[in-house]
Amino acid sequence: MFYFGVDYYPEQWPEERWAVDADLMQAAGLNVVRLAEFGWSRMEPEEGRYEFDWLDRAIQILSERGIQVILGTPTASPPAWLMSQSPDLFRVQDDGLRATYGNRREYCPNHPHYHEVSRRIVLQMAEHYARHASVIGWQIDNEFGQRCYCPVCQEAFQTWLRRRYSSLDTLNQKWGTTFWSHAYSNWSQIPLPLKTGGSPNPGLALDFARFASDSYVAFQKMQVDILRQKCPGHFVTHNFMGFDFDQIDYFELAKDLDFVSLNHYPRDQWKFRAAVNPSRVALQHDTMRGLKQRNYWMMEQQAGSGGWEILSVAPRPGELRLWAYQSIAHGADGILFFRWRTARYGTEQLWNGLLDYDARPTRRYGEIHKMGAELRKIGERLIGSTLKPEAAILLSYDSRFAFQIQPNHPRFSYPAHLHQVYDAFYRQHIPVDVIAPGTDLSAYKLVVAPALHVLTDSTAREMESFVKNGGVLLLTQRSGVKDEANAVVDRPLPGLVAGLAGAIVEEVDSLADGMSNSLEFCLPQLGSVQPEVGILCEVLRPTGAGVVATYTRDYYAGRPAITQNRFGKGQVVYVGAVGGEELYGPLAAWLSQLAGIHPLFQAPAGVEVSERWQQDRRYLFVLNHTDLAQKIPLDGQYTNLLDGGSRLQGTLTLPPNDLAILTAADEYPY
Ligand code: GLA
Ligand code: ZN
Repeated sequence: MFYFGVDYYPEQWPEERWAVDADLMQAAGLNVVRLAEFGWSRMEPEEGRYEFDWLDRAIQILSERGIQVILGTPTASPPAWLMSQSPDLFRVQDDGLRATYGNRREYCPNHPHYHEVSRRIVLQMAEHYARHASVIGWQIDNEFGQRCYCPVCQEAFQTWLRRRYSSLDTLNQKWGTTFWSHAYSNWSQIPLPLKTGGSPNPGLALDFARFASDSYVAFQKMQVDILRQKCPGHFVTHNFMGFDFDQIDYFELAKDLDFVSLNHYPRDQWKFRAAVNPSRVALQHDTMRGLKQRNYWMMEQQAGSGGWEILSVAPRPGELRLWAYQSIAHGADGILFFRWRTARYGTEQLWNGLLDYDARPTRRYGEIHKMGAELRKIGERLIGSTLKPEAAILLSYDSRFAFQIQPNHPRFSYPAHLHQVYDAFYRQHIPVDVIAPGTDLSAYKLVVAPALHVLTDSTAREMESFVKNGGVLLLTQRSGVKDEANAVVDRPLPGLVAGLAGAIVEEVDSLADGMSNSLEFCLPQLGSVQPEVGILCEVLRPTGAGVVATYTRDYYAGRPAITQNRFGKGQVVYVGAVGGEELYGPLAAWLSQLAGIHPLFQAPAGVEVSERWQQDRRYLFVLNHTDLAQKIPLDGQYTNLLDGGSRLQGTLTLPPNDLAILTAADEYPY
């Protein structure tokens, strides 16, 4: 069964309403709800007194309509009785101020008492629901995040460092604490990188970012262990915030879970933009799939205009369905919408659900109703089918954290750079996996490592053997600059991969506003456009590599900006300057060609193509993200799964915000 559902808060509505809600859900083809992740004060109204009767009754009503349940552990939003027990349960921000009660996520993730009380509620829930026929799995907490800078965390950080470095001598040496006379003679002297401390030692700051990330991994693990022990038949997941969230190493957070889930709001209030960027959305999905290199769920998809203080742009007709199918196209195997009915009370009054305040089913409900009917017919075929990209892009949280500490340039953004490179492949309909550095690369033909700033020996060795065996590798500027402790390496850049690149960085120029440069390609395959570059420009010196592009201006005019090196059976291209679409577009086309990767399909701009494979059966998703009808030339005979199996040949016409799922026509009629 393809799971399709909503996030539901029965505790926020009168009990007489629950059956009506469940009927409407059933009518829309919804078969799963997530419950209780903000229900702590109803499940434990006072310390040690647990009440699950209300939740049992809600689950009963839902299960009578064939709707199954994912339970959220409620630790993201602690009850007032708990937080009033001690001020030091509250998280401290990087400015040294303590959070106060009244929002959510106020807690310190390392506080032993918070752990203990959380452990108890999770245990109670797990014991109560372990054998419930309708409960299928668990979501732990809700959107883990935010670093805590409290004294409890400081002590935990010192303990974490002691485990990592064993001796203070090693720590002092790795961080280079002779600089500014920071040598530590006792673990208890080690500070937190608070804003009040100014610019911290980069080694300390990177380790703190790792430690803060590990704190949530450990808090989650404490809950996972209970659920695994008590509820062996249930899945365990957490709802992640996509590629955008940058405070936790999501590869680490994903390790203890059965699968990853995504919360996804393409038109939310925080990004108050007129247009949605579908390639950025695609990157969110590919990142989620990449965290465990397996399919994932959408635990929350935007169901209407979102907002806390202000309302965001309303999703256009067709968008909710299109976004949901886009997630399936990238590997989602379950989809829930946030939220069922728009809240009357609380911070999220403006965050619209599928039903309005007055319980009226909206046009958005209508759209989901339509999708529910479709998935009842075709969901089973799609579930478990997989993507098989031949290209991968490395997402390094170490590098991301290091750039948070030292962005290198006021306008350089690691995530924006990674997206820009990703976007070039997206536009050419070349699917990519997003994976962690150090992952086995042998399954790929092409690997892209944008600004791999913090580079370990093992990652360098993995890339080396990948290229040696015939892989094509793209490296970009500021790669290999730092070792694992965030110290600059003592060899020519790009450090551990300079040999692989067959070139070294002679010097780097950081360009202020108003300054720019451009490149001239030396290879005809790359065309005659002279792409603008800026922000950071590295002047390269080949030590074996050939020159692919040179700078056209300034004191390094004519000097190499891009090189290409043969290494073993493979090739390495090093790009020393930050560019835009006109740089990465031709590069992506050329690199794919070098690697022997072909685009999935030819489609006009704004039309996305993705494929999933069920054994030998290919499902090709063609998604029209534009507000115009699009004509797409077909390369053969297909059946469209979505319109009852019509046979297609010649041209596919897609209305605005609509899609087709194509498969080989031989299956018709199905
Ligand atoms: C997040 C949270 C939800 C809700 C929505 C909308 O994704 O997980 O609880 O707050 O945003 O704000
Ligand atoms: Zn803390």
